Amino acid sequence: MISKAPKFKPRFRLHPVAILNSQRLRRSLADTYDQKSFYKYAIGLILLLLSIGSLYYTDKLVEELEQREEREVQLYAEGLRYVFNSPFDENFNVVYQVIQDAVNFYQIPAIYVNENNLANQYINISFPKKISPQEKERIIQEKLADMKLEHPPIPVELGKNRTGYIYYSNSFLLTQLRYYPFLQLSVMLFIGYLAYLAFSSERKAEQNRVWVGLAKETAHQLGTPLSSLMAWVEYFRSDPAIDPSIAEEIEKDVIRLEMITTRFSNIGSVPTLKEEPVSEIVANFIDYLEKRVSSKVKFSVYNQLAKEQTVLLNKNLFEWVIENICKNAVDAMGGIGEIHVTLQAPPLMKEVWIDIRDTGKGMSKANMNKIFNPGFSTKKRGWGLGLTLAKRIIENYHLGKLYVKSSEIGKGTTFRISLRATIIE
Ligand SMILES: Nc1ncnc2c1ncn2[C@@H]1O[C@H](COP(=O)(O)OP(=O)(O)OP(=O)(O)O)[C@@H](O)[C@H]1O
Ligand SMILES: [Mg+2]
Repeated sequence: MISKAPKFKPRFRLHPVAILNSQRLRRSLADTYDQKSFYKYAIGLILLLLSIGSLYYTDKLVEELEQREEREVQLYAEGLRYVFNSPFDENFNVVYQVIQDAVNFYQIPAIYVNENNLANQYINISFPKKISPQEKERIIQEKLADMKLEHPPIPVELGKNRTGYIYYSNSFLLTQLRYYPFLQLSVMLFIGYLAYLAFSSERKAEQNRVWVGLAKETAHQLGTPLSSLMAWVEYFRSDPAIDPSIAEEIEKDVIRLEMITTRFSNIGSVPTLKEEPVSEIVANFIDYLEKRVSSKVKFSVYNQLAKEQTVLLNKNLFEWVIENICKNAVDAMGGIGEIHVTLQAPPLMKEVWIDIRDTGKGMSKANMNKIFNPGFSTKKRGWGLGLTLAKRIIENYHLGKLYVKSSEIGKGTTFRISLRATIIE
């Protein structure tokens, strides 16, 4: 006969094969994320190389076209010299027309300034209809000023120490070609961005399907042994030879396992959200947690919210998030330290912030970027799933935000949960 319940400390031990498998799975999850960033960088590099190639090629084209245009203007200069020095006055218009046509092929705007500094010939300059001579002169002078900045003039030797000058600017085609690579680059970047969005949203959807399937299957598999355990509890209870406190202890654990199973099955379905008194839920849950972790961890809750402040919550899932963050905090402080939870509503933001600050070892900037990736863990037996799930629960189901507000090596870390506040009437 057992007179006294044996003092047993339930200890959770994983079979060595299970540990090995868990480590493999964790590594493969982490690898998936490394691969993802590899593809991101590879696509970025290809885009960069294409852009450099395109810029280089267009630059060559621009250079060549610029040289051709300069030759055309020189031809124009030659033509003018020929015309001005021609003894055959009657042929002036015919020759001038031939030269103009040649330059017109490239549509290069050009102005001839004679030896007395008068701009008396021009080509490819458009004027509005019905324009006064003064207005026309003003436009020519403006264009001339721009051309002087653009290219050095081409001299037209007229003999007897007389020199005129032709000023010109790039043709419309050349100007467009200069901007073309930037246009091309923007289009390419835009297409790259769209492709990346499509790619990553498809990956996310796939990951979500895997999570949901895994969680549902786990909940389903746990169902049968749980009901069998419940039956065993009843059996122990009915046997007067067995200390009733054993049945009680086992029942507590079974209830806890049932709660975990419910949480897992909740992951699959769209959880129902209810208006809940958030400060009360947090305070009660911290109270519950405090009793279950080492007495060397001191918890404190500072509530700055109005008592009637509610938030749309799924209580079960939300408590799970708090539990995960606090468990990590306890791990980070090696079981000794403080956890401060502050609830506040920033003015004009319709949000409720729940800050969970610990006095643990903190984390490096590099790790801070990875902690929400599935499979990332710095713990010997960590799965690297706690924060991933917590983030999904807050961001996908509660449309809130979960992030590291601050962290300092050796000092501690603060996580912030930001939720949408319901309006207080
Ligand atoms: N409060 C904290 N202080 C310092 N580091 C932290 C803190 N919380 C999380 N981390 C880091 O983030 C990592 C990922 O945390 P996460 O909860 O996702 O996984 P885990 O705790 O390692 O494993 P598990 O899946 O069992 O939760 C941790 O391994 C730890 O390095
Ligand atoms: Mg964790």
